Amino acid sequence: MNILFTASECVPFVKTGGLADVVGSLAPVLAKLGHDVRVMLPMYTSIPQQWQQQMQFVLNFDVQLGWRRQYCGVLSLKKDGVTYYFLDNKYYFGRPYIYGLGGDEYERYGFFCRAVLNALPLLEFKPDVIHAHDWQSGMVPALLRIQYMHLPFYAGIKSVFTIHNLQYQGIFGIKEVQDVLGLGDGLWSSDKLECYGCANFMKAGLVYCDAISTVSPSYAEEITTAYYGERLDGLIRTRKDALYGVLNGIDTEEYDPEHDKLIFEPYSLKTLEGKAENKRRLQAELGLTVDEGIPLIGMVGRLTNQKGLDLVDSVLGDLMNERVQLAVLGMGDARYTNLFSWAEGQYRGRFAARFAMDATLAHKVYAGADFFLMPSLFEPCGLSQLIAMRYGTLPIVRETGGLRDTVLSYNEYNGEGNGFTFLNYNARDMFTVIKRALYFYENDKAVLASLQKRGMQGDYSWTHSARDYVAIYEKLTAKA
Ligand code: GLC
Repeated sequence: MNILFTASECVPFVKTGGLADVVGSLAPVLAKLGHDVRVMLPMYTSIPQQWQQQMQFVLNFDVQLGWRRQYCGVLSLKKDGVTYYFLDNKYYFGRPYIYGLGGDEYERYGFFCRAVLNALPLLEFKPDVIHAHDWQSGMVPALLRIQYMHLPFYAGIKSVFTIHNLQYQGIFGIKEVQDVLGLGDGLWSSDKLECYGCANFMKAGLVYCDAISTVSPSYAEEITTAYYGERLDGLIRTRKDALYGVLNGIDTEEYDPEHDKLIFEPYSLKTLEGKAENKRRLQAELGLTVDEGIPLIGMVGRLTNQKGLDLVDSVLGDLMNERVQLAVLGMGDARYTNLFSWAEGQYRGRFAARFAMDATLAHKVYAGADFFLMPSLFEPCGLSQLIAMRYGTLPIVRETGGLRDTVLSYNEYNGEGNGFTFLNYNARDMFTVIKRALYFYENDKAVLASLQKRGMQGDYSWTHSARDYVAIYEKLTAKA
């Protein structure tokens, strides 16, 4: 099959979150299954030189955006069996940021979505399926259905739209979006593009794609409810027949404690002393008291409300009264960077925070910590808990979305489980579960060792889920 991915991020070129990991690790797995997989991305100037140097110029064309005519160059490179295309326009993507600051996101990603569709006949690549990811690509399924489908080249192309996070929808003024994409007045009713008086790229994708998927079975259920539905639950309920929950995998070569060059010392289930060495050296690097006997809890991720950090805020004092160390790594909201910098000063040698996107340090935290805390308010899938388990670090998570689908709480009666979980979004419940984990650390290490073993032996690869996506593609393209 010919498969085209469109996304705003993809490792190793550009990443702000899990979306990039998923796009960049799923595409090569699909290619390995024998499909022609191509990925279209914006040509951000922040893509590292190392990759830019490998790109070849393919062709260029102009994109009509309302009254504007904009240049679009196509650069490409091949990697792991996948062809990557980078859509180049310096005005839109030659900026020192990926998202947000210019106030013209609708124009940047409106340009991107239209350029994706216009590029295909010029590249002589006709996909069987276009798989669009998150709101930045939401207009691809919409434009395809509304404006392109009747042209012979595009006839029969199916679209899948994947929600990686329903909270970010790309909401703009209708007039502004019309000005760029020229979608006529008749399209702005609530069954089509209009959304609470606004334009909404995510909604556009959800309405016009042939199949919707999201990144875990539980999140697929959750987003049909008002609590998790971010005001789109009604629409999602009407499309339930076309909705799939496909659990994310991780790149099991990049995240492999046995062959990881970024950590202090590689280790496996058989050489767990190596994990202890990673812990000591992580403690030293972060300015924590170097003591293998003190349980170390790690957190890696975007520092936003989604990640349940207000729960941590609520019980931080009580938590730091326990015999425990905390290491936090991530970038995000001032509320949390302020809190964690304060905590670092307050609990010297026991609390460390680094506000950066630092892949090397992230690997070291996954390897060096004993526990990994992820008390998310909602979590479409979550990749960190999977990585943590693979590194023998026990997840402590809230039972929501993909966390619920991947972490099973330790059951004292039958010994099952691979971590610790709590159900309600409540700081006391979280604290109780952390204390439960710490209890086993001090009193019954054998329990933790059994959970750790199960975690390290788990299958977090794409093998299964890539086939689920192929099954969706095949169902859509099957001739009736
Ligand atoms: C978003 C979600 C996260 C998911 C990732 C990749 O970052 O918040 O839960 O794992 O996308 O799908």
